[in-house]
Amino acid sequence: MNAPLHNPHAPEDIAFALELNGQPVQVTCPPDTRLLTLLREHWQLTGAKPGCEVGRCGACMVWLNDAPANACLLMAWQLQGQRVRTIESLATSPECAPVQQALATCGGVQCGYCTSGMLMNMTWLHQQQPRPSADEAIELMSGNLCRCTGYGGIRRAVEQLFGGDQSYSA
Ligand code: FES
Ligand code: FES
Repeated sequence: MNAPLHNPHAPEDIAFALELNGQPVQVTCPPDTRLLTLLREHWQLTGAKPGCEVGRCGACMVWLNDAPANACLLMAWQLQGQRVRTIESLATSPECAPVQQALATCGGVQCGYCTSGMLMNMTWLHQQQPRPSADEAIELMSGNLCRCTGYGGIRRAVEQLFGGDQSYSA
């Protein structure tokens, strides 16, 4: 049997530390490992989903230093000292509860594959700007795609969450 091929030009593993869902963690991995891979395969945090894997669909969305970021685009070498929060932490927090409620009551969840990313983005938006205009809300959610095309329910949830009694007409 042949010995496994060894690439002498392969990058060395790097060791680094970050904060993950409020806990300090350390990891050693090749520098081009993506955060999405680390979350799902190293830490078994599977809430962030692989979708397009090129930063277009938002299924893998997490918070990096308290702002939404696509985990498929973040490399291990970028994560030293950073703060990462995933849906596993956010989903049980009071800040996420009104967003979950809005999606549930408005029929904004079908298969649920996009839902964790939607929750990460909508909760952040709700924290930052509780009353955005219709255009702002839709624009800020435009990086979250739903393969079930359940946009009617998602839009109603956005309206309920951000619009209150006023109805968006855009
Ligand atoms: Fe990351 Fe689509 S899987 S943006
Ligand atoms: Fe199925 Fe959005 S609910 S992908």
